[in-house]
Amino acid sequence: GAPKYQLLRPQGLRPSRHLPDTLIIGVKKSGTRALLEFIRLHPDVRAAGSEVHFFDRHYQRGLRWYRHHMPYTIEGQITMEKTPSYFVTKEVPQRVYHMNPATKLLIVVRDPVTRAISDYTQAASKKADMKRFEQLAFVNGSYSVVDTNWGPVKIGVYARFLERWLLYFPLSQLLFISGERLIMDPAYEIGRVQDFLGLKRVVTEKHFYFNATKGFPCLFKSEARSTPHCLGKTKGRNHPHIDPGAIERLREFYRPFNNKFYQLTGINFSWP
Ligand code: A3P
Repeated sequence: GAPKYQLLRPQGLRPSRHLPDTLIIGVKKSGTRALLEFIRLHPDVRAAGSEVHFFDRHYQRGLRWYRHHMPYTIEGQITMEKTPSYFVTKEVPQRVYHMNPATKLLIVVRDPVTRAISDYTQAASKKADMKRFEQLAFVNGSYSVVDTNWGPVKIGVYARFLERWLLYFPLSQLLFISGERLIMDPAYEIGRVQDFLGLKRVVTEKHFYFNATKGFPCLFKSEARSTPHCLGKTKGRNHPHIDPGAIERLREFYRPFNNKFYQLTGINFSWP
């Protein structure tokens, strides 16, 4: 109804807080922080600094609460937020639709096997004596049955989660960003994002350099600083060695789901 839209974009020239026009909804460990840091270099994009978790954890606090977690913007600036758990949380598509059915959705995706290992690596870094990846990804100590209830495996079945979003949003409101390409050629992916958001292509290859020590693209300047800046230590971790047999079995497991995802998105990500 009307009051909701008042909240969405009140008129006026003074900087004010607005509900997001665009969300980075996932996928966890695919490069979501990199995407946010890169796109927020654009002067017409303002983003909440940390993950707000409104639609999954704090929904009962209401849209006013949510809006107060948004940065100040002036007319013409896009308000953005990223919380990667949105993609996989059942209630979220409907809730976002309810806030604003025109919300634009950005989704970074990466080979689900690498993503699972990245997810595991992050969990292991927070917990001493974590079991090996191979012990957690399969049931019963052999590689025959994949444990689809284990978070790092489950999240990689992208097609399953995407289907729920497509019940509420047309494909034209979703933009898929390749996590692999975001590392290999960040300017290319950021170019696509700017086009999708109707922004001038301000963020270009000139903003990036490859930092050999980090092993990842970094920025000459970030939104906050005018000095060279890489993402923090928790982004671009070394992964443990995983038995190739386990990797092969996981690839086989994901293949039909990946194909379904290519079919739904119309994009062939060519994951191995
Ligand atoms: P790893 O740490 O496993 O390598 P998210 O921000 O969604 O948690 O994703 C983290 C992943 O972003 C990292 O996983 C890394 O591979 C990827 N990434 C993409 N671009 C990056 C960059 N410029 N610097 C660091 N990590 C980047």
